[in-house]
Amino acid sequence: MIRIQNLSVHCCGTPILTGIDLDLPQRGVAVLLGPSGCGKTTLMRSVIREDDEDRDLLVTGRVDVMGQDLRDKKIPAARVRQLLGLVPQRPYPFPGTALDNVLFALTHTTRLSPTARRERALAALEEAGLEPSHHATEANKLSGGQLKRLAVARTIALDPAVLLMDEPTNGLDPLAVGRIERLIATLGQNRLVVVVTHDLHLARRIADQVHFLWPFAGGARLVESGPPAEVLERPARAETQLFVEAAWNGAAALYDADDDDADDALLRASAPRPRLLPRLDRDEDTPEAAQ
Ligand SMILES: Nc1ncnc2c1ncn2[C@@H]1O[C@H](COP(=O)(O)OP(=O)(O)O)[C@@H](O)[C@H]1O
Ligand SMILES: [Mg+2]
Repeated sequence: MIRIQNLSVHCCGTPILTGIDLDLPQRGVAVLLGPSGCGKTTLMRSVIREDDEDRDLLVTGRVDVMGQDLRDKKIPAARVRQLLGLVPQRPYPFPGTALDNVLFALTHTTRLSPTARRERALAALEEAGLEPSHHATEANKLSGGQLKRLAVARTIALDPAVLLMDEPTNGLDPLAVGRIERLIATLGQNRLVVVVTHDLHLARRIADQVHFLWPFAGGARLVESGPPAEVLERPARAETQLFVEAAWNGAAALYDADDDDADDALLRASAPRPRLLPRLDRDEDTPEAAQ
């Protein structure tokens, strides 16, 4: 369904992603997992061609969907974003009600009649699980979980072949997380849903396949892919082992006593980690060498 080939991204001249190859099926839930700052959002932005508007992003490689390379500038960006619908991490609703927000998306991207637009919008709100009592609520008065469901409705109203969700449960309470997880599972029954997260617990619960991304000096690479029971419980790669160990058992043991910057410490994957893992001291530009 979607085949990403040799995708590399520079942001403001810095390599963020390098040589990403990813083949995803037509249905199900694929989770793209990796530490914060490793380039997950940048990957999503690149596949929907945000580099068309953001000159800081330099993207090379192919993104094939249904036999078409969506990186080909002959395909309008609007068409790309209709095929690949992105639910951003922080959805910004437009002024107006929840229903207005979905109608607005449809008005600007389809030529449906007003009646058909309204029907489509209501169906999308229902599929996204936003209760009818909230359809007339001002979007900026919705709770975090409701706002996420509105963002999903706005995206699925356009009937994308692939739904991309960036950190869909970030900042939600556990009950709202549960509702979003159920929604993801339902949506994944008849389309491909790609969920981007750094939350391994979430990945374990929702993923059919996990793809683990790790930041190297020359840009982040995909280091390991497979079913969650393998990647998250018996990872083959040292980078994944480090992340999984930190998630299941806490990361405190990974740091020196005087190391107060947790993110930096976790990202310094080549630092010695007593007890837990082997050193990652291979040439990071040739990950094949370590396999
Ligand atoms: N517009 C930008 N300008 C400069 N650097 C950026 C920009 N957007 C992202 N980056 C950098 O790219 C890297 C990856 O960021 P991001 O894709 O947001 O990571 P993630 O989503 O995995 O947390 C980070 O180091 C971030 O600082
Ligand atoms: Mg992100």
